[in-house]
Amino acid sequence: MCGIVGGISSAGTVLQHLIEGLRVLEYRGYDSCGVAVAEGGAVTVRRKVGRLSELERVLSDGALAGARAGIGHTRWATHGKPSDENAHPHSDGSGRLALVHNGIIENYLELRRELLAEGRVFHSETDTEVLTLLVGREYERGRSLGDSVRAALARVRGYYAIAVISTGKNPELVGARHGPPLVVARTKDGAWLASDVLALLPHTREVTYVEDGEVVELSPGRIVITDLAGLPIERAPRRVDWDAEAAGKGGFAHHMLKEIFEQPDVLARTAFDRIAQVHGDVSFEGEGWQDERLARVQRVQVIACGTALHAGMIARYLIEGLARVPVDFDFASEFRYRGPCLVPGTMALAITQSGETADTLAALRLARDLGAFPASICNVIGSTVVRESGAVILTHAGPEIGVASTKAFTAQVVAAFLLAVRLARARGTLDEAQGRSLLDDLRRLRPRMEGLLTEATVDKVRRIAERHLHAKGFFFLGRGVNYPVALEGALKLKEISYVHAEGYAAGEMKHGPIALIEPGMPIVVLSSPGVVQDKVRSNIEQVKARGGHVIVIGADREALALADESIEVPEAIEWLSPILNVIPLQLLAYHHALGRGCDIDKPRNLAKSVTVE
Ligand code: AGP
Repeated sequence: MCGIVGGISSAGTVLQHLIEGLRVLEYRGYDSCGVAVAEGGAVTVRRKVGRLSELERVLSDGALAGARAGIGHTRWATHGKPSDENAHPHSDGSGRLALVHNGIIENYLELRRELLAEGRVFHSETDTEVLTLLVGREYERGRSLGDSVRAALARVRGYYAIAVISTGKNPELVGARHGPPLVVARTKDGAWLASDVLALLPHTREVTYVEDGEVVELSPGRIVITDLAGLPIERAPRRVDWDAEAAGKGGFAHHMLKEIFEQPDVLARTAFDRIAQVHGDVSFEGEGWQDERLARVQRVQVIACGTALHAGMIARYLIEGLARVPVDFDFASEFRYRGPCLVPGTMALAITQSGETADTLAALRLARDLGAFPASICNVIGSTVVRESGAVILTHAGPEIGVASTKAFTAQVVAAFLLAVRLARARGTLDEAQGRSLLDDLRRLRPRMEGLLTEATVDKVRRIAERHLHAKGFFFLGRGVNYPVALEGALKLKEISYVHAEGYAAGEMKHGPIALIEPGMPIVVLSSPGVVQDKVRSNIEQVKARGGHVIVIGADREALALADESIEVPEAIEWLSPILNVIPLQLLAYHHALGRGCDIDKPRNLAKSVTVE
């Protein structure tokens, strides 16, 4: 997903701030980057395919160092391949205006034809350049930059977060949003904007979230938000508690490893102040989780993508198992277009780390339009999904920088467990004593998680990973509440090792996929005490009989004894076993990718939050 930064200051230069802001946003994934600054009556653009270090090399001549207004961008290619020409910022050719964009202009071809017919010249294949020339055309007519942006956006269909810089007698900086996130902040002598609040933290903790259909005009010490008609909108800033250190690596080699090790603390931050132990119940912030609201819930429809959907699949086992409420789940990208039928009394539960995933947001809006009550489990307090939900469970995982999600997944599963208990207590399927017992089990999980994050265990996982560095492919098998964990383990390996890995329901292997097993092929099997432990043992036997190399992860000693290699996991109740079993899988993917020399935190082709379809 692209990253946008911008700044205007009366007290100092902005170029270094732009570069540092882009560095904070690197985790979102990109393949080119650039800046544009307004200085001496001209807007100058510098952009490069490749990493930020390439751009810094181009800027090292210091020619742009004196500018007091500018914008920056990291591009994750959608329209047009990664190249210098397609990199942002784009200019309108006048030398007085440049624009950066995150999103997709869906009607860009018809607008491009209109502009070509007027004799406008294009230098790239991008939809962004079309928008830039559209704004430039209005600006040429003498409009202010804000009015030029509003007039241009009135012609546009699509999703966008943009920043535009221009210079007339004074530099002007304008942002706008419809879809991907945009956050702004003002300081005494400046005003700043970014796609992600993390890039604003070096300036201030008081930030203002721009909403869909809004335009924001920034000048030193001042921010003016309007709608597309130019009517002013008042919005108070919010304080952000994250600190920049939390987004740092804290001495770990990679963000992903740091975030794996943060998981015991994430459990505590997400759960412990919500446990109402005396009543064997859970208390969430906000009205939407009270008994009277939950008593009306007839069905839960989980909508999510990727790792978040795996957490949602676990949520189904937990909610149906504890609260006896039917749960459906679907990829958000499928739910949107399959003409879903929702029964009255449905709660739509969007699960999303970023709160900005386009498919998840659109699916939640569709479910709401179909009459569902919109709820969410999310990690980013000011995100769009949070602001459009009637009830929210915030996961206090802190900023997750590694593209491959780890601590956010764990936090989502913890939140789902808490929700299942809350629902069960509201509907009387769990009494106080049963609730207390389950919440005690959750509390006891933290030392068990820490017990897995010891040097001995990490070293054992590393050796297993290194033994299979050249495997052509992996299977990850699980049953019951650990079936989604198998899917998650496979996704982790695919994402950062670029190796084929398939997660499968262990009981389904004999219906076809078992034909794929080659002698020595690594088959990771999750096995924990519970209703399906005997079945998993026989699934292990079936795989071994075909020559598979079985790696068991779990707490079932008989299954561990059958394994060629194993990682023993401390015992926990079956409902909570995914939170323990996933840790060795995360470490396995991490060390496998490390051994293959892959980019752990910024895997190829991936973005941290996919804010486009
Ligand atoms: C997980 O490792 C991936 N980065 C990806 O599947 C991610 O979970 C998915 O894109 C959903 O993102 P979200 O939680 O921010 O909505």
